[in-house]
Amino acid sequence: PRYFALIPAAGVGARMVADGPKQYMSLGGKPMLRHALDAFLASEKISHVFVAVSAGDRQIDAVAPSHGVTVLRCGGATRMESIRNALVVMASAVLDTDWVLVHDAARPGLDRMLIEKLIAEVGVHPVGGLLALPVVDTVKRAGADSAVFAVATTISRDALWLAQTPQMFRYRLLRDALDAATTAVDSGAITDDASAVEAFGHAPMLVEGHPRNLKVTLPRDIRIAEMYLAAP
Ligand code: C5P
Repeated sequence: PRYFALIPAAGVGARMVADGPKQYMSLGGKPMLRHALDAFLASEKISHVFVAVSAGDRQIDAVAPSHGVTVLRCGGATRMESIRNALVVMASAVLDTDWVLVHDAARPGLDRMLIEKLIAEVGVHPVGGLLALPVVDTVKRAGADSAVFAVATTISRDALWLAQTPQMFRYRLLRDALDAATTAVDSGAITDDASAVEAFGHAPMLVEGHPRNLKVTLPRDIRIAEMYLAAP
């Protein structure tokens, strides 16, 4: 089987006070999205990279290299919808048994080593898997009263992981799981590709990622991301 990358980049970045969509924000000298693109292009394991942007996107052509990358103007109202639309278009190029690595444009710290670690560990797994970080902090669940936060319980951090991307699944399984997720009663609980696959009855593999692969969500994340990008 081959390995394809899919980067959903059709978000508006509502939590980031920026001039435009955060995937185009300049970070460490280049647009945020370009970092993830370059990481995938640097790996010989990756056959091709697909990027999903919104139909009205005016910036992608200046950011995506013409070689090795296909831009799909098929963004939807949600991340999941953008990915589902992209998978439909990709059907002409990808086989059911090929792997798709879905990676958020908002994680510019991805590098070739992390991509190839994920592929090496998950490539032999029947379902697929994701990069994730073991939780190091003690975890509290707050009580129902949201006016005053108070601890209701402490949750054992022993078996807890924080999900990152890429998340890697066989094309057909991912597509079927996301189709099922859209019609699920609790579709709001499905916040990443792995959770759709889990709701579909499978157990994705956890592969230890790296803090450098953080998701840039809030303005305070920018300096941390730039610190990792500056380090070799
Ligand atoms: O906003 P958030 O950081 O959760 O977005 C995760 C990823 O999903 C980003 O790369 C964003 O561009 C993408 N996205 C999308 N289509 C949407 C919303 C988000 O492709 N409608």
